[in-house]
Amino acid sequence: MKILENKTAIITGAGSGMGKAMAILFAKEGANVIVADLKTERVDSVVNEIISAGGKSTGVTVNVSNEEDVKKMCDTAVNTYGGIDILVNNAGVMDDFTPVGDVTNDLWNKVIGVNLNGPFYSCRIVVPLMMKKGKGVIINISSIGGLNGARAGAAYTASKHAINGLTKNIAYMYGKKGIRCNAIAPGGVLTNIMEGATPNAFGYERMSGGFATNIRMAEPNEIADLALYLSSEKSSFVNGSVIVADGGWTAY
Ligand SMILES: NC(=O)c1ccc[n+]([C@@H]2O[C@H](COP(=O)([O-])OP(=O)(O)OC[C@H]3O[C@@H](n4cnc5c(N)ncnc54)[C@H](O)[C@@H]3O)[C@@H](O)[C@H]2O)c1
Repeated sequence: MKILENKTAIITGAGSGMGKAMAILFAKEGANVIVADLKTERVDSVVNEIISAGGKSTGVTVNVSNEEDVKKMCDTAVNTYGGIDILVNNAGVMDDFTPVGDVTNDLWNKVIGVNLNGPFYSCRIVVPLMMKKGKGVIINISSIGGLNGARAGAAYTASKHAINGLTKNIAYMYGKKGIRCNAIAPGGVLTNIMEGATPNAFGYERMSGGFATNIRMAEPNEIADLALYLSSEKSSFVNGSVIVADGGWTAY
């Protein structure tokens, strides 16, 4: 039997990078995968790839910072596959390494909206559904920027520190209800996250001093493998953890 046979997983930001790698891997392991992303062409491409390989997948175009969109995403999972077993809050955006003195309200609201409000909206919908089933897994994609001070700018750093707190709170509050909630804190991963970025010169200069200590960048599938473990029964005693996967960068 495949690891995620008969499970339904929602993966946000599944059109690219780590989310795409997770969607393809989870489908290969038998899951029904809801591919959710802001970009419809990416959604269609990933869904087609999964279906061509013999997997089961449904796409939803969603802006996770919009509560109505998140509701539509969760409804699609329930109406198509009968429930939600796994939620991966992966969609995220960078902040051009902007230090607090230069952060506009628009930038702050955008980054917090996607990286924090989105996971909050989806967890609020999914937790009661999982409680009814008596089980469920939530994985929030954080960052080593959520454990350290200057891997990004102020808004991104704050959003990822906050998602770690949300993760631990959910884990403890609902642990006795059969729900496990963990976060993954990746280091540098080769994805499209810097697409269209216009780095803040001062913020970039301050942040990039730490680049020399990075051992290497990861491929997205290296993070997807960890997400598969956290989604499976193999991690049954792992709850409320923020698991660093950074190739040793922060061990320095
Ligand atoms: N790449 C890295 O080095 C790195 C390191 C640590 C953490 N992360 C985190 O990993 C997660 C995945 O990022 P990635 O590196 O794979 O990036 P990526 O840009 O390759 O993929 C992110 C996907 O999210 C989608 N997205 C963006 N805003 C969205 C929204 N409002 N609603 C729905 N979808 C949206 C994008 O269209 C894109 O397809 C993010 O949360 C990011 O913060 C990335």
